[in-house]
Amino acid sequence: MGAAPQGARSEREAAAWVRGMFTRVARRYDLANHVLSFNIDRLWRARTVRRVRPILERPGARVLDICCGTGDLTLALARECRAPIFGSDFCHPMLLAARAKGAGAGLFEADALRLPLRDASLDLITVAFGFRNLANYRAGLAEMRRMLRPDGMAAILEFSEPPNAVFAALYHFYSRRILPLIGGALSGSRDAYTYLPESVRKFPSPEELADQMRRGGFEQVRY
Ligand SMILES: C[S@@+](CC[C@H](N)C(=O)[O-])C[C@H]1O[C@@H](n2cnc3c(N)ncnc32)[C@H](O)[C@@H]1O
Repeated sequence: MGAAPQGARSEREAAAWVRGMFTRVARRYDLANHVLSFNIDRLWRARTVRRVRPILERPGARVLDICCGTGDLTLALARECRAPIFGSDFCHPMLLAARAKGAGAGLFEADALRLPLRDASLDLITVAFGFRNLANYRAGLAEMRRMLRPDGMAAILEFSEPPNAVFAALYHFYSRRILPLIGGALSGSRDAYTYLPESVRKFPSPEELADQMRRGGFEQVRY
């Protein structure tokens, strides 16, 4: 199972659609993110950084932020780590935006399902709002597991549907009615912001993802 944009008939087509979508929104991606989340996206990333700080403090820690996009998490990690942070993404315009923000040193273009890194070579892998877009979640987890050292850590920051019924109703109204309008107006690409809530709806629940991670060989999984 993985991201399945409408009309995509294979994993290859799904990945091509996702890459094309981020190519179209890259220029206004950050603005749309901050406006649509009321700037809370910054707090979510900051919280992720706090969770992984013990790994960032390891001397010479090797850290890769996959699906790094415009580099917001890459930069937030870099502020807390002495060693350089690597960032990868398969969408060139998103990487150009990351470079323009100063995340350039460790950036490279690569598919998160086939990364050019050795087995057991990383202390930490992070991914913010990118995992949900992978065309195959099991393959994405296997690739992360392959690159992690035995004492390494993976951190996935991702959306899920709210468990509370009242909040869920508010969220559904906002994400289906308001978000595509504002996201479309800001980015010029309404389909990207129609896809967003749809992809969250189809994404495994936190429990399901945790289960999938345990089955994929991850230990001490928490969310
Ligand atoms: C929603 S953006 C998140 C960007 C950034 N991590 C952030 O926190 O804002 C998702 C990113 O995942 C990238 N992506 C999706 N599927 C990918 C894949 N298979 N390989 C590499 N990058 C991928 C997209 O190109 C996009 O830049």
